[in-house]
Amino acid sequence: MNTRFYDRKTRSQGPAHEIQLATDRIGRVGRMGQCIRKKIQTSVILLSPFDNGEAFKVDLKEQFNRDEFAKLIARSFSDVLQHLKIKIPSNWKLNDAHVNRSTFLKFTNDWNEAVRSGRTMTSTGQTPIIFQKLENKDCPKPLLTSILDYCKDVTIRDEGILKSASYGDKMYGAVSDKQVLSWANELDIGASDTVVDLGSGIGNIVCLLGPSVNKAVGIEFVEKTAEIANAHHELFAKVMSWLGIHDTKVTLKHADMLDPQFENLITKEATVVVINNKQFGPDLMNKMNILFAKCETGIKIISTIPLIGARQVNSKLHRDNNPLVAIGESKELMMTEKNTNFQSTPCQFHVTTIDRNKAPFVYASVTRR
Ligand SMILES: C[S@@+](CC[C@H](N)C(=O)[O-])C[C@H]1O[C@@H](n2cnc3c(N)ncnc32)[C@H](O)[C@@H]1O
Repeated sequence: MNTRFYDRKTRSQGPAHEIQLATDRIGRVGRMGQCIRKKIQTSVILLSPFDNGEAFKVDLKEQFNRDEFAKLIARSFSDVLQHLKIKIPSNWKLNDAHVNRSTFLKFTNDWNEAVRSGRTMTSTGQTPIIFQKLENKDCPKPLLTSILDYCKDVTIRDEGILKSASYGDKMYGAVSDKQVLSWANELDIGASDTVVDLGSGIGNIVCLLGPSVNKAVGIEFVEKTAEIANAHHELFAKVMSWLGIHDTKVTLKHADMLDPQFENLITKEATVVVINNKQFGPDLMNKMNILFAKCETGIKIISTIPLIGARQVNSKLHRDNNPLVAIGESKELMMTEKNTNFQSTPCQFHVTTIDRNKAPFVYASVTRR
């Protein structure tokens, strides 16, 4: 059937295929069989209540986009809502909140009007309701984790895609934000650190630590995972810009961690290296240990499997095969509950600190009678 559309406003008509081309319109079949063109809004702009913040665009087409953004606002922006005198439905905090389009549009109108008048007040010298620009290091951790939850939920609709794209020692899995923050606290990771995640998955660790360190680099081999990591970081950067933070300090690379281009970064520039090596085979780990043996004193390497195991310290054969034994020490890190999505019981992580001045290991020979 050669359906034509009819635009009520302009009273113009046209072939049905044009309806497909207009992304902000939907076609409905009218009484005469013609298609009635009706405009629907596909996205909405939310002004930033932060000094130096950029407007943020929320996609309205997908239900989950509205639901996840509403959840983020309800959970983490209660002080802003209070300042702007905006009320939101109580169910917005729920995990399964179903946020309808008109309620969401009303909320964004109220929000934008309040922000606009807040900005005018600032310029006329009245009490401002615009928030100070957040400094990277001051961005509260609970706010960062809920922003990252939002970014993850919106970018990864189905974790199965990540799992099915990975294989063998390229298996995908992730550490919880709580565990990463526990490392940051225990190892005092801060503004002067350069963090490198070897096998960075969707970039969860680098995105969480990036804003509070000097630089965070993630290297991921699997193409699909690296692609999702980029989309995840792109959205994260937009939300951070909305807060007035325009540099996440994160760089993501789609590459093999063994690529010689990273040698300097890993051995000289990095102060903290993460290697979630639970699935890594001995071949990869032997090569990585040779590289780690070139690291500067003081570098901390966080891993799942300790880089220097008790067996390697206690047996001459193993000790001679592991170049790290002579220059480092591994110890257990504090554990948080349910700290990974790849193990049902808590996973023990370790830190190996490189110390080139370590006293040489004295092998006491045992004389057998
Ligand atoms: C268990 S995931 C860890 C993700 C993230 N670092 C975390 O701990 O939450 C390990 C990742 O390492 C990646 N990987 C494995 N071998 C790699 C290699 N040679 N170079 C870069 N990435 C690699 C896998 O594809 C996988 O995404």
